[in-house]
Amino acid sequence: MFTLYILQVTMASTRPRRPGKPSMLILLALFLLFFGAIRIKCATLPDNSTDVLWLQAFRDEISSDPSGWFSSWNSSSDHCLWPGIRCSRTHPGRVVALELFGLNLAGQISSSVGNLTFLRTLNLSTNSFSGQLPPLNHLQKLQVLDLSINQLHDTIPDAIVNCSKLRTIDLSKNSLVGEIPPKIGVLSNLSVLRLSWNNLTGVIPPNLGNITSLEKLGLAFINLTGNIPDELGKLKSVSRLAIGSNRLSGGFPHSLLNLSNSLEFLSLSYNMLSKELPSTIGDSLPNLQELFLNNNMFQGQIPTSLGNVSALGRLELGSNNLTGEITSSLGKLYNLHYLSLECNNLEAIGSQSWEFFNALTNCTSLETLILTENQLHGAIPDTIGNLSPGLNYLSIGGNMLSGTVPPSIGRLGSLSFLGLEYNNLTGTIEEWIGKLTKLGGLNLQVNSFTGPLPASLSQLTGLTELNLGNNKFEGPIPPTLGHFQHLSDLNLSCNNLQGNIPIQVGSLTTLQTLDLSSNKLTGEIPETLSKCQGILNIQMAQNFLVGTIPISFSLLQDLIVLNISHNNLSGDIPAVLNGLQLSVLDLSYNNLEGEIPRDGVFADAAVVLLQGNLGLCGGPMDLRMPACQAFSLGKKVTYYLIRVLIPVFGFMSLALLLYVLLLVKNTPNRECLAMPSFGENFLKVSYKDLAEATLDFSESNLIGRGSYGTVY
Ligand SMILES: *[C@@H]1O[C@H](CO)[C@@H](O)[C@H](O)[C@H]1NC(C)=O
Ligand SMILES: *[C@@H]1O[C@H](CO)[C@@H](O)[C@H](O)[C@H]1NC(C)=O
Ligand SMILES: *[C@@H]1O[C@H](CO)[C@@H](O)[C@H](O)[C@H]1NC(C)=O
Ligand SMILES: *[C@@H]1O[C@H](CO)[C@@H](O)[C@H](O)[C@H]1NC(C)=O
Ligand SMILES: *[C@@H]1O[C@H](CO)[C@@H](O)[C@H](O)[C@H]1NC(C)=O
Ligand SMILES: *[C@@H]1O[C@H](CO)[C@@H](O)[C@H](O)[C@H]1NC(C)=O
Ligand SMILES: *[C@@H]1O[C@H](CO)[C@@H](O)[C@H](O)[C@H]1NC(C)=O
Ligand SMILES: *[C@@H]1O[C@H](CO)[C@@H](O)[C@H](O)[C@H]1NC(C)=O
Ligand SMILES: *[C@@H]1O[C@H](CO)[C@@H](O)[C@H](O)[C@H]1NC(C)=O
Ligand SMILES: *[C@@H]1O[C@H](CO)[C@@H](O)[C@H](O)[C@H]1NC(C)=O
Ligand SMILES: *[C@@H]1O[C@H](CO)[C@@H](O)[C@H](O)[C@H]1NC(C)=O
Ligand SMILES: *[C@@H]1O[C@H](CO)[C@@H](O)[C@H](O)[C@H]1NC(C)=O
Repeated sequence: MFTLYILQVTMASTRPRRPGKPSMLILLALFLLFFGAIRIKCATLPDNSTDVLWLQAFRDEISSDPSGWFSSWNSSSDHCLWPGIRCSRTHPGRVVALELFGLNLAGQISSSVGNLTFLRTLNLSTNSFSGQLPPLNHLQKLQVLDLSINQLHDTIPDAIVNCSKLRTIDLSKNSLVGEIPPKIGVLSNLSVLRLSWNNLTGVIPPNLGNITSLEKLGLAFINLTGNIPDELGKLKSVSRLAIGSNRLSGGFPHSLLNLSNSLEFLSLSYNMLSKELPSTIGDSLPNLQELFLNNNMFQGQIPTSLGNVSALGRLELGSNNLTGEITSSLGKLYNLHYLSLECNNLEAIGSQSWEFFNALTNCTSLETLILTENQLHGAIPDTIGNLSPGLNYLSIGGNMLSGTVPPSIGRLGSLSFLGLEYNNLTGTIEEWIGKLTKLGGLNLQVNSFTGPLPASLSQLTGLTELNLGNNKFEGPIPPTLGHFQHLSDLNLSCNNLQGNIPIQVGSLTTLQTLDLSSNKLTGEIPETLSKCQGILNIQMAQNFLVGTIPISFSLLQDLIVLNISHNNLSGDIPAVLNGLQLSVLDLSYNNLEGEIPRDGVFADAAVVLLQGNLGLCGGPMDLRMPACQAFSLGKKVTYYLIRVLIPVFGFMSLALLLYVLLLVKNTPNRECLAMPSFGENFLKVSYKDLAEATLDFSESNLIGRGSYGTVY
């Protein structure tokens, strides 16, 4: 009976009030009678019929609605039928869900949303809302608050702690400022709290530990300081804990070792955490699937117990201060697919300490292995060929490896990247290189590899980056290099390569950087180079190239750096080069002659290097070259002088010439200027690239996944 009455009341009251309807008044009176005085308090809340008004006010503050979503929010239909709205079944007309996801809506979130007092779900994720959060203090029924991926830039209102039924708060990826509300711990029913990627400050509130129902906590990328509070060890249900990319200090929080049953994902990466890792970490957290401790200042050895975390799929310990040998216990991790230990002081000296490498052959799921920049000495074990056949990324650069690369490496046919750069490796690469047909990147620079560039290289048709610089490769550049249809960076500098630059270089249409400097290349610069339309950087200095500068260089509109210094190029400087937007044009130490063009790139003395070309004259004043007339006059005088003097000083000038030639030969013309000195510069770049790459793609930064994709 009561239910029937109530239904009638609410149905009546969802329509605009029509005065003089006696039946309604009677029902209302009955209603008040039956439910008594306590219920009268409700009258201070917004009237039931007004939810539609609050929605209209919300709509009216939207400044951009590219998909025309709101055209169907019109008075010709009941607001409960509007797309994105759900109403209560038991309280007709009352809005319980407002869900507008990924619509590019812009503008403020109207504060009228704070009057939708029956709201249980507010999901406006992945739009462009700016300004403040709506007032939350009347939303006592709110369970899901998802405003992630917007442009909100207010503080998180303290009133949020009064929405006691909240189960999910996702405010990640906004520009929120201020601190995490210190009383957030009173939201005892919260299971998901995500605040990552904001501009928050302050500390992790210790009372977060009171939310024992919390399952997912995301506080990454928000600049938090202080220690990780021990109270987090009380979060018995937490399975994902992402607090990387802050400025947290102190040691590894031992209290987290209490979370033995629940914790599956732990990221503390990119903080300032120090001291040793707890030796029992692996025994205490047996359910971990992903562990990110990279980019901190952890010291000491890799705990042997990590080998007991049998579910572990991803382990990142790179960029710390870890020392000692790498534990062979990692070989027990059958599910491991990603292991990065780069940029530490981990050691391998002598075959005993390489045991870990043999052990890793038991990790049959391994796809990525990064050991870059450690203290691994000696030869690469022959067991390298027994690593997981699915291995696709292997980087051991920046160690102290010596000897030859075991040909068994050719069995790793899935490799898409191989980095052995900055070691002391020797021998030829012929035996194995052609088998790695899936390679997209090969970096062998700064080693002592010898022999010719093998013809089998041409089988690596997927290469985008080929860096063989600073080795002792010799012989010609194989014409088959034209097979690299996707190559963007080619570095063969600082070797002993001979012969012509093959005209097939013109087939490398995706090339951006070509570095052939410091070799013994002869012949002319191929005109076909002008087909590499996207090329940015051409380095051919320190060779024995002859002929003229190709006029077709003027077609390379994207070119920024052209360095063909220290060769034997002759003829004029083509005036058409003036149209290039170069930041470096180094033509120095050649045999160029004639008048220097005046305009375009040549007008900027900071860009153009021309010294060491005795036949050049004129050009802009800034270049301080001899004027052309005076020069040619001087030349004539010299010519006659020589004609007179040759009979007299013939022998002396011949001796002088010989002396000059010898001098030229002995000057450090062949010195490898193009490359940074051993160890330093590249290693820093590689570390930075790696950091950036892992920052961008690592799961440690994962905030969530949804139908819209993955959010970091
Ligand atoms: C709104 O509807 C609910 C359910 O019918 C009722 O309990 C409440 O008293 C109504 N409020 C007003 C202000 O009419
Ligand atoms: C009003 O909304 C309905 C759907 O809810 C739509 O079919 C109709 O075209 C809309 N009317 C106007 C005038 O936009
Ligand atoms: C919310 O409701 C109250 C009371 O009905 C009203 O005074 C206030 O203006 C409303 N707020 C907004 C933003 O519409
Ligand atoms: C939270 O609720 C309490 C009591 O219900 C009230 O005193 C307090 O002002 C509310 N806080 C906020 C920020 O609205
Ligand atoms: C928390 O959730 C439980 C079960 O869903 C519920 O019984 C309880 O009332 C909720 N607590 C609060 C403060 O809403
Ligand atoms: C983090 O804090 C530093 C120093 O206070 C500041 O320079 C930086 O902009 C902050 N970053 C963010 C995302 O707020
Ligand atoms: C938030 O931090 C980012 C990155 O440091 C910065 O670009 C942005 O301007 C900051 N926004 C606010 C509102 O502080
Ligand atoms: C919540 O946490 C704080 C600080 O950790 C503690 O002092 C307080 O007693 C806790 N409250 C409850 C209700 O557990
Ligand atoms: C790394 O550890 C060594 C000794 O273990 C110490 O001398 C050095 O200062 C540490 N470096 C950093 C950056 O913590
Ligand atoms: C690899 O696994 C086999 C059998 O599962 C075991 O006998 C062997 O000791 C393991 N090797 C290493 C180096 O852990
Ligand atoms: C590489 O070998 C050279 C000579 O054999 C040696 O001087 C140098 O220290 C070695 N470098 C490394 C990093 O082992
Ligand atoms: C918000 O809506 C989107 C799209 O329906 C959904 O993927 C996301 O999980 C929702 N957020 C929450 C916290 O449920």
